[in-house]
Amino acid sequence: MHQGTGPADHEGPSAAGPARCPYSANGALALHRGGELPWRQLRERHGGLVPVELDPGVPGWLLLGYKENLQALRDQTHFSADPRPWRADGGPARTEALGHDGAEHQRLRIPIVDALARVGTSQLVPVVERAAVHLLGRVAAEGSADLIGRYAAPLPAMVLNELFGLPDEYGRMLADLAERSWSGDPEETAAAARAVRGYFQGLVERKRREPGEDLVGHLLAHPNALTDQEAVEALTLLWRSGHEPTTHLIGNALLKLLEDPGVWTAYLGGTLTPEDFIDYVMWTDSPLQVLAGRYSTMDIRFSGAHIRRGEPLLFGLASAHTDPSVSRHGEDAMALAGNRSHLSWGAGAHRCPATAFSRELVRTAVDLAVDRLRGMVLAVEPADLRWRPSLSVHGLEELPVWFTATGERVEQGQGEEPRERRPARTWIRRRRRPAAQGARYQAPLARSGGEDGSDGERTEAAAVAPRPRRHRSPQGAGARYQAPFAEKEAAPDPLDRLLADWRPRG
Ligand code: HEM
Repeated sequence: MHQGTGPADHEGPSAAGPARCPYSANGALALHRGGELPWRQLRERHGGLVPVELDPGVPGWLLLGYKENLQALRDQTHFSADPRPWRADGGPARTEALGHDGAEHQRLRIPIVDALARVGTSQLVPVVERAAVHLLGRVAAEGSADLIGRYAAPLPAMVLNELFGLPDEYGRMLADLAERSWSGDPEETAAAARAVRGYFQGLVERKRREPGEDLVGHLLAHPNALTDQEAVEALTLLWRSGHEPTTHLIGNALLKLLEDPGVWTAYLGGTLTPEDFIDYVMWTDSPLQVLAGRYSTMDIRFSGAHIRRGEPLLFGLASAHTDPSVSRHGEDAMALAGNRSHLSWGAGAHRCPATAFSRELVRTAVDLAVDRLRGMVLAVEPADLRWRPSLSVHGLEELPVWFTATGERVEQGQGEEPRERRPARTWIRRRRRPAAQGARYQAPLARSGGEDGSDGERTEAAAVAPRPRRHRSPQGAGARYQAPFAEKEAAPDPLDRLLADWRPRG
């Protein structure tokens, strides 16, 4: 579960399946049984919150009302983000911002906020463009693609990796590791989690040795002086909090455009600005539907219920967004335009520090896909789309589309995509939408690619084998026989080793 800790991280099957009673014997909603949650009925029956069972015998609360969600997100006195005091074993020591409250939280959060702020739009947009053009170039000649597996999922990994200051081959590895961690196979997931940990440990180690003007460099140089361990936690949190929701915000936004001609026209025509469009998707199809991560600090009465000290709370964002107190206009895009009071970025002290960053990333990604994949239409009926079987994440497994093939093909074999998730060609062809007229994105492309969608030299670099970094001997030292100073091969550092051991999925 996004950001979550403990048993609420459980992802149950949400595929329809045979109807089962959603309640356990004690009357709590059994979240561990999976299944889609009928938000309206739950609100009508339980009001602002419902008692739940996270795992058999593990109680908690799911907040349903907008008011209740907002109140608990903002209230650090009654609801703590730190799970340790409530765990039987005390839990592992966590030094990440999202596991703390008060001054310690601020100490850990501010370096992240400042490092993200230093990236800024002018640095971010060219990086997104380069990665997007590369990924779109790889499918442009095919006339069809799964835009989750081949675009929305690898894109944020490639972008973050470049902002961390590493070459593209590490970005491809990171994207692959993300895919593996969503695979549903516990062994593969655990191995991917270890490798991601190794990536961030290696990254901090390397950047301490070779500081750069990049996001990690700014984080490490911050006056709050994070330890190595804290820096690894901060970057892991950034990755964990950022990658998956960004992927599914891109996916859900593209789907909105593809399935609703009114929204498509308003977006391309400029009536619906990109900012308003993103808020509209955040209201109606937020990539996070349930968020874990708060624990009551005392016995309290809250919205008519008696919550005991230490009980976990889950935020029902999808329910809050359809609460009649705030959603009188239903899913009307134009009525929601300009309304930023949704809770998809959270609220209060832990509110997402990357809202501007994510908006810019997603806006650029959506514009480029619409612009480059002319005549894009859904390749299956909306009812046949497969959604992730997750309680917390609201996102597609695949977004199969058809578009006008350009005939241009980016060089293959330069580091394969993390996973070729092209579904078997059994899609039923739907009527094509005419080629997009005047797609809004006309900005010149940054440093990388030509119009063929190929990207610059770094992406084309031979992919998988790590390039040993060279250290020059200092001039004038040693060299008894006047031999030229040989370039000494540096021993591979942990990041090199990780990359050398990585085998992309076939
Ligand atoms: C569509 C994309 C995103 C969504 C919907 C989203 C949503 C959220 C939400 C709801 C929270 C609050 C969690 C809580 O209160 O428990 C949060 C926190 C956070 N997000 Fe995001 N996020 C997104 C993208 C990103 C990105 C791209 C990054 C980093 C590059 C990021 C970094 C963080 C961090 C570090 C926190 C923890 C802040 C703290 O504890 O003070 N997020 N995000």
